[in-house]
Amino acid sequence: MKVFQPENPDIICAWRWTERGLYLLDQRLLPQKERYIPCRTWQEVRRAIREMVVRGAPAIGITAAIGLVLGAERLKVHTRRAFLSGLKRIAQGLSRARPTAVNLFWALRRMVHRAETEADAGPRELIEILRAEALSIWEEDLSACRRMGRLGAELLPEEGTVLTHCNAGALATGGYGTALGVIRAAVEAGKRLSVLADETRPYLQGARLTAWELKKAGVPVSVILDSAAGFLMARGRVQAVIVGADRIAANGDTANKIGTYSLAVLARENGVPFYVAAPTSTFDLACPSGEHIPIEERSSEEVHFCAGKRITPRGVSAVNPAFDVTPASFITAIVTEKGVIRPPYSENIPAVLSGETQAS
Ligand code: MRU
Repeated sequence: MKVFQPENPDIICAWRWTERGLYLLDQRLLPQKERYIPCRTWQEVRRAIREMVVRGAPAIGITAAIGLVLGAERLKVHTRRAFLSGLKRIAQGLSRARPTAVNLFWALRRMVHRAETEADAGPRELIEILRAEALSIWEEDLSACRRMGRLGAELLPEEGTVLTHCNAGALATGGYGTALGVIRAAVEAGKRLSVLADETRPYLQGARLTAWELKKAGVPVSVILDSAAGFLMARGRVQAVIVGADRIAANGDTANKIGTYSLAVLARENGVPFYVAAPTSTFDLACPSGEHIPIEERSSEEVHFCAGKRITPRGVSAVNPAFDVTPASFITAIVTEKGVIRPPYSENIPAVLSGETQAS
């Protein structure tokens, strides 16, 4: 049976992709159960993204690209023209999975563009081309994470404690991780670091996923309540904060998991450096600033219930923004695979992304 995966996959992987279909590691069940959910249609892939079977900005983009291939394989068309119009319809459908992580739209655009520019290919060849493109998106993200790891590791102290929020690890990316990749690389380089993982209500990505990944990677980790971060910083028990991103605007304002903004403010107040690690596919230069980033509001049920139990009185409402925006002025540096970007972000982001400037 044919298996589609990068040449040197990471030890932790969100997907098994074979000629039979896509199997997604159900991240809602981790760390208690390692169960894979089969997806055979693009609609099943969209549902899996919406329902958080797979999550994390780069992982959402990769999953959507594979979902587009599954949809393309089922198109019953004979002409290139009909194929391309079916492909665009599926991409439209997949783009409605979640609104904030720009990697979703980036990956779908890249896939459709690839098919459109392959002028002489018919439906059968286009499916092969799209499969290779989805695999490249996955592979490129994995190598971007490894490179961010090497570049970002230098920012972390030789010794101390690093705080992170949500899960920006292998499960959220093509492998290795963005923020967690930087921590892994620093530890692999001999730095004596331990990690504080915010539990990250309501989905508990920190308590369940970050703790699970770091334990597997042999990095010492303690889980803390989201509300404990300020106290621990004030007591000098945090030497750096590093998080991932779902979308970075042209001026450096960064959307990430709800609670990130509060952490950045606390870090500033306590003189702790605050780093963001994200591949260039997470930048949205069409978005001038954070106020233009669409922020997902998820169901209030996620707030009302904890571990299957209702925790709020009936009749009380709840508000559940899934992300917030950290103003660029709170960010010490942004680690990308093209280099470490420092302020002024409005000048340095476009320069580094276009390759004009070698970032430091
Ligand atoms: O709702 P999620 O779990 O998809 O949110 C994930 C995050 O906020 C991550 O920090 C972000 O996507 C970066 S992942 C490398």
